Amino acid sequence: MDSQLVVKRIDRLKEEKNAVIVAHYYQNDEVQEIADVVGDSFALAKYCAQSSKDVIVFCGVHFMAESANILSPDKTVLLPVRDAGCPMADMADAEGLKKLKQQHPKAAVVCYINTSAKVKAESDICCTSSNAVNIVKSLTEDEIIFVPDQNLAGYVEKKIPEKKFIKWPGYCITHHRLTENDVAKARESKPDAVMLVHPECRDEIVREADFTGSTKQIIEYASKSKASEFIVGTEMGILYELKKRNPGKKFYLLSQGLICPNMKKTSVKDVLFALEKMQYRIAVEKDIREKAKKSLDRMLACK
Ligand code: 13P
Ligand code: SF4
Repeated sequence: MDSQLVVKRIDRLKEEKNAVIVAHYYQNDEVQEIADVVGDSFALAKYCAQSSKDVIVFCGVHFMAESANILSPDKTVLLPVRDAGCPMADMADAEGLKKLKQQHPKAAVVCYINTSAKVKAESDICCTSSNAVNIVKSLTEDEIIFVPDQNLAGYVEKKIPEKKFIKWPGYCITHHRLTENDVAKARESKPDAVMLVHPECRDEIVREADFTGSTKQIIEYASKSKASEFIVGTEMGILYELKKRNPGKKFYLLSQGLICPNMKKTSVKDVLFALEKMQYRIAVEKDIREKAKKSLDRMLACK
């Protein structure tokens, strides 16, 4: 089927079903192009909590669609590709977290939004990469169990050294593989470029960067900056929005390996099939959903 026809059909189905298409900045360019809302994990969670649509087609990975269902249980949430998951979210399990809580009974549990609903249900508060520092600052507890990203936990720990961090040993397979050698090579080939990285990168990388932030914060930083060249240390999908907003600026990936295979699974055709067949519905069971919602609501209420 020709791509214009696919888009036309999507538009018609969206209207018929009162649906909205949301997409993360790491999605394929053509998916971002047809999406109604594109954003980072925090912006998309906030949008889903308030949306008036009946159907949310979530172009992202499983935990994102799950969070949309937890925040808006009366809506139908569709994940166009059933096995689009997040390997980092899969590194943490609720049973293991329960055991860790028993070992540290005074600790507050902060879960990155990149977790399953079951892990969120065992947590006190959720965070994303854009608000993790503020979320931890808002807590009165001196001890923090941070799950599952050891790199984001380390980044927050450096900003709040007075708290003790118990870090789950998880990591993002895409960001964690960046090396100091990648940084050195990028700096050497683009000596005038400003280096922007995501806090899912290891400390050795964050230390070398000029700016560290979530995808949205990286886009805002580059758009406001007077510099004209940037080395980008996060998943390649972000280049679409960076270039769209900054046609006169140049962006180079810190490494060609910055691809999240799961974020790349969704195509525009998958979005059409999702709306045609109403697949794949993501619905968290009620008791887990209600517990998990408390940690997400507490995050959204945090100033
Ligand atoms: P942000 O959307 O918070 O920048 O996080 C990136 C990410 O890894 C999403 O899976
Ligand atoms: Fe998970 Fe990393 Fe992919 Fe984000 S980029 S979805 S954290 S594997």
